Amino acid sequence: MSTFNDIKKQDNDFIANTYARFDVAFVSGKNARFIDESGKEYIDFGSGIGTNSLGIANDAWAEAVSLQASRMQHCSNLYYNPVTAKLAEKLCRTTGMKKVFFANSGAEANECGIKTARKYSFDKYGADACRNKIITLKNSFHGRTVTTLSATGQDVFHNYFFPFTDGFLFCAPDLDEIKNTVMSDGHVCAVMFETIQGEGGVLPLDDGFLRDLSAFAAKEDILLIVDEIQTGIARTGRFLSYMHSGISPDIVTLAKGLGGGLPIGACLFNEKTEKVLSFGDHGSTFGGNPVSCAGACVVLDKVTSDGFCGEVEKKGEYIKAKLFEKLGDEITEIRGRGLMLGIDFKSKPAKQIVAEALKKGVVMLTAKQSVRLLPPLTITYEDIDEGIEKLASIF
Ligand SMILES: Cc1ncc(COP(=O)(O)O)c(C=O)c1O
Repeated sequence: MSTFNDIKKQDNDFIANTYARFDVAFVSGKNARFIDESGKEYIDFGSGIGTNSLGIANDAWAEAVSLQASRMQHCSNLYYNPVTAKLAEKLCRTTGMKKVFFANSGAEANECGIKTARKYSFDKYGADACRNKIITLKNSFHGRTVTTLSATGQDVFHNYFFPFTDGFLFCAPDLDEIKNTVMSDGHVCAVMFETIQGEGGVLPLDDGFLRDLSAFAAKEDILLIVDEIQTGIARTGRFLSYMHSGISPDIVTLAKGLGGGLPIGACLFNEKTEKVLSFGDHGSTFGGNPVSCAGACVVLDKVTSDGFCGEVEKKGEYIKAKLFEKLGDEITEIRGRGLMLGIDFKSKPAKQIVAEALKKGVVMLTAKQSVRLLPPLTITYEDIDEGIEKLASIF
C-alpha cells in the first residue's frame, strides 16, 4: 500500500488545485468509521458532506451496487431500464410528486429546476412577458455551475467567472421583502430556497415563514423550488425537510444523500410542472445511471422504513444533549434539525476545531464560522459517544 506521502504527492502533482485537503488519506471504513492508509480509525460526523447517508460500505447498498455493476452499468437514456424507473416510482410515491428528471449532481438538479421554472412561465405567459426571474435567498448556496453560482446568494461566489447568468434577485428570508421584490420587478417566475441554509452556516428558515411564502407564491403563480440537496433524504428527521412545515413545492431538487455515496441528482416535478419539459428540452448522458439508482433504491427503502426518521430526530437530540453535557461551557449555540447541526464554539474558530478533532480521530465539517455535523443517518449511539469524547478532548 502507498504511504500517505506517496498519495499526497501524486494527488498534488496531478489533481487540479481546487481543494484545501487535510493531511489524511482514507482507504476504507464501515458505517460511521473511516480507516486511513495507516490503519487509524476515525468517527465520521461528516458522511462525505452528507452523501454517505447509510454510512460507509453499508452491506445492502454495496450488494445492490455490485450486483447492478456486474449486470449492466449503463445503457444510455435512449432505452428503458428497470432500475432507474423503479427509483423514479419510489421517489414519486414517497413525496407525492409526479415526475422525476435524473441528473448527476446537486448543481445539475438545480439547473434543471431553474430551466423548468423559466419554461413554465414562458409557455404560460409568452416570451414577451419576460417572466423569467428567480428570487433566491441571501446567504444561500445552490451549486458551482455558472448558473447555480449566479443563483447563490453570496457575493463571494460572484467573482472571476464573468459574465454570470442574468435573472436572479436576492432577498432576505422576509415575506415583505420578497413581496415587494415580486411586485416592483414584475418578472419573477419562481422562488428558490433551502429550508436550512447548509453551506451558509446551518441557518434554518422559520416554518411559519415558509407557509406564508408558499401561500403568497401560489396566489401569484410563482413556483416554489425547494433545494433539498443537503437537507433531503431523511437528514432532518423527515424524508424531505419542507415536510416539517407542510408546504407543497412545485419543484424539488435532490442529490448528496440520495445515492448513498454515488453521484446522482434528481429534480422532482408536481402536477403544475410535470409536463413543462418535453423531448429535447433537457438531458444528461449519465443521468439516472443504473448503478447509482440501484444504490439509491436501497437508501430510499431504508430511510422510509418504519421508525427510521424518528430515530434520526432522536439521534439529533441526543447529540445536542451530549454536546451540552460535555462541552456546555464552550458552546454558544447549536442550530439545525435531525442530523444536520451547526455548532458555534466560544474559545476556538471552527476551522481549528475541525483540524484538531481530525487529529484525535473525529471527522467533522465547517459551514462559514460554525462547526457542521452531518453524520451518517445510521450512526450508532456508541459512535456518537466516542466521537463527542474525542471532540471534548481538544478543549
Ligand atoms: C443546498 C445545496 N445545493 C446545491 C449543492 C451543489 O451540489 P453538488 O456539489 O452535488 O453540485 C450543494 C452542495 O453543497 C448544496 O448544499
